[in-house]
Amino acid sequence: MKATKSLQRQLVYGLTLGMVVLWLVATAVSGLVLRHELDEAFDNAMQETAQRILPLAVMEILNREEGTTAQQVASLNTQQDGFTYQVRDKQGNVLLQSQGISATEFGNQPILGFTTTTTHRLYGASALSDTVFLQLAEPLSHRREAALDAAISLLWPLAFLIPFSLLGIWLFVRFSLRGVLSYRHAIEARGAGNLSPIHTEELPTEITPIADAVNRLIERLRNALETERRFTANSAHELRTPLAATLAQVQRLRREAPEGPLQLRAAQIEASLKELSRLSEKLMQLAKAEGGGLLSEVPQDLAVLLGHVVHDLQRIANNPIHLTLPSTGAVFSLIDPDAFAILARNLIENALKHGADGSAVEVGLSDGACFSVVNAGHIVPASELTQLTQRFVRGGSRAEGFGLGLAIVSTIAQGVGAELTVASPATGRAEGFEVCVQFARASSEAI
Ligand SMILES: Nc1ncnc2c1ncn2[C@@H]1O[C@H](COP(=O)(O)OP(=O)(O)OP(=O)(O)O)[C@@H](O)[C@H]1O
Ligand SMILES: [Mg+2]
Repeated sequence: MKATKSLQRQLVYGLTLGMVVLWLVATAVSGLVLRHELDEAFDNAMQETAQRILPLAVMEILNREEGTTAQQVASLNTQQDGFTYQVRDKQGNVLLQSQGISATEFGNQPILGFTTTTTHRLYGASALSDTVFLQLAEPLSHRREAALDAAISLLWPLAFLIPFSLLGIWLFVRFSLRGVLSYRHAIEARGAGNLSPIHTEELPTEITPIADAVNRLIERLRNALETERRFTANSAHELRTPLAATLAQVQRLRREAPEGPLQLRAAQIEASLKELSRLSEKLMQLAKAEGGGLLSEVPQDLAVLLGHVVHDLQRIANNPIHLTLPSTGAVFSLIDPDAFAILARNLIENALKHGADGSAVEVGLSDGACFSVVNAGHIVPASELTQLTQRFVRGGSRAEGFGLGLAIVSTIAQGVGAELTVASPATGRAEGFEVCVQFARASSEAI
């Protein structure tokens, strides 16, 4: 089965990822704009610095006794800004330069205005009718560093934003989906047999049509099950009455008939009708077991139901029935009372019918809702045992039957989610037959 994805998780991760991507794009765009602005500001600063240095440099050169000797001067506060400068005459002789510079930065011939080399940004200006040239150089790495610092300062907030956004979106989505969550809990909390409409407030507009459709489906299912249940009950009743009437007529005929072949034939018809009546009863039970109404909406006390069944059978049984009920007195489960009675009746009848003559039948119901029927008798081989729950399959028993009892029990158990175990020999015995049905317990409160 395909693993389902949490909508909440998808929204949380999706929105946070979207926010991070948008932030990164915004940072990249801002970085580019910032770089451009920084370049402009740095260029302005270079130009201003050059304009301040140039008159001072000219004065210095003019006041000099030996005009053409190159002279290194201490910084004019330009080192702080990362600038270096060089003053040259028309022939390219260096007249003045700042300390610690390499001549290669400035090229062979001074160029006026801004130029960029692979490592530096240069600015050239001239004075004294283009006889003195000043060049200012600034390392490009200086500008790159400044731009990088600015970009990093823009990225820092992400470190706080990601966890806050994860938490914030998670809380917000959870708050927004509270209607859907309460709808889910409402469905989960109800018992399997509860087919009443699901009502939850505050469902989002997108989910309301789904909830309405589910309610309509439940309603249709409920009607279908109800119809089926009614049909099964009515059919059983309708068939039972004419069969009973015919049987009564045949019995009367037999009594009234003179001794001889007619009475014998009437007796045969009576036996056949009785068998037909039993078969119709079993088929009705099977129809009920296969129908949908096996679960009850209200928890049923199995101890009470079992008490009634055992009491009924005790009157017609040849063997004694020992009933052990739970110590707590009541065990609740969500099973239709009729379905439970059919199941219990079939199992106890089997034990009475197929068990060893005169031996007691042990019927028990544990606190954990485990219903068991144990009887003495021959061991049923394991290979045979597994087939017995199939329809019209009978074991080695000589007692009458159609092979439907255990099939009915198995179908009911499956329908109510109970676990059926058939064992021979019975647990703790050397022989005998044991059937256990483990029901799911339910709380005694009505749902
Ligand atoms: N308590 C039991 N002890 C011994 N054998 C059993 C017991 N219950 C069932 N069996 C064996 O399993 C077979 C199938 O049982 P099942 O109840 O399905 O049919 P049946 O009792 O023969 O007929 P039906 O229940 O339809 O009247 C029986 O024929 C019998 O051989
Ligand atoms: Mg049977």
